[in-house]
Amino acid sequence: MTSYDAIILGAGAAGLMCAATAGQRGARILLLDHADSAGKKILISGGGRCNFTNIGTTPERFLSANPHFARSALARYTPADFLALIARHGIAWHEKTLGQLFCDGSAKQIVAMLLEECATGRVKIALGEAVSTVDHADGRYRIRFGARTAEAPALVIATGGPSIPKLGASGFAYDLARRFGLKVVEPRPALVPLTLGGEEVLFRELSGVSAEVTAKAGKASFREAALFTHRGLSGPAILQASSYWRHGEAVTIDFLPDRPAGWLREAKRANPKAGILRMLGGRLPDRLAETLAERLGLSGEIGAFTDGRLQAAEQALAAWHFHPNGTEGFAKAEVTVGGISTQRLSSQTMEARDVPGLHAIGEAVDVTGWLGGYNFQWAWASGRACGEAIASR
Ligand code: FDA
Repeated sequence: MTSYDAIILGAGAAGLMCAATAGQRGARILLLDHADSAGKKILISGGGRCNFTNIGTTPERFLSANPHFARSALARYTPADFLALIARHGIAWHEKTLGQLFCDGSAKQIVAMLLEECATGRVKIALGEAVSTVDHADGRYRIRFGARTAEAPALVIATGGPSIPKLGASGFAYDLARRFGLKVVEPRPALVPLTLGGEEVLFRELSGVSAEVTAKAGKASFREAALFTHRGLSGPAILQASSYWRHGEAVTIDFLPDRPAGWLREAKRANPKAGILRMLGGRLPDRLAETLAERLGLSGEIGAFTDGRLQAAEQALAAWHFHPNGTEGFAKAEVTVGGISTQRLSSQTMEARDVPGLHAIGEAVDVTGWLGGYNFQWAWASGRACGEAIASR
């Protein structure tokens, strides 16, 4: 049996950052992953260019049963800190939109950088072997993986959430956490397309049509593109709203977020002979305008409609209620909302208060970011906080 200062389960974004941080501060680290290579989600992220952080990172852009939990780690390791790291490795980047930072080259550069940082910290990495047992006795954690065993006074759960199982994602983190008495906030697929059923299947005919909208779910609202798909709704605005959406609730879409109240009535006064469909089509993709007009019973000249009818149409277009019958599930979800409850975790060290030496970081924990680099920033920040704590034990 080999002894270490800490064993980290999961060589994803959070586990790699944690291992490099602790290793470079002198801790002997074993980093384990059942996948045959490290950082698989990093490699496919951001269309292969990894949206590695967001310069607009604030705790308000994260969901958690305890919205304050992420504050400390996010304040101690910021997007500027990650930018300094990638600058040291000569990785070029650019801002795409809404503060989202991507590699100019490839996500492979981020994984290579993290592996190099781990090598500097003399981290021992074991890939391709599943953990068969985890025991805890006399203040030590003993792990069996493949034919080998290892032990350490600290164990870090960095095995992520169950989104995209075909990449090795699993609910392992939750099972392990429960075994040690930690609670798990119900995990739900998030940043995920929504499906439409019933009468709303008609909108599937618009598959491929997109428009800039404001999408609202619960108290959250996002102004970005929405996309109709053959199963329902997707696009950044919908993915963002999906994290806040609960079964049975509506997602409300403003199809014309720039139009002031009264714009259709104004248009009627300016040109009563104009076709109402043309008025809508000027501002929306034609197929979408046709579908919405048909559903609202709008056709012919705008002057034929009373102000009351036009006001009702404006209101319907500004607050169109969709009633999704579900999501496309963990198979298509970019992240998981929920996870290991922060209730009994220290926000400084990510250590379980009642189980000395047990830590949880990254997506495994009940902290979920918006779309746009926030989830990686949480992985880096929580990994860093935990790595520092392990090295100073
Ligand atoms: P992560 O999932 O990265 O790593 C967990 C590791 O644990 C994996 O390597 C897995 O193999 C391993 N593991 C699981 N079970 C195990 C077990 N039983 N034993 C051993 N190992 C086990 N975020 C963002 O900020 N910007 C972006 O551009 C994107 N893009 C993106 C695209 C797609 C398609 C997806 C699916 C996700 C994103 N994300 C993203 C989200 C981001 O990838 C995610 O939040 C982080 O990878 C989470 O990092 P973790 O290290 O916590 O888990």
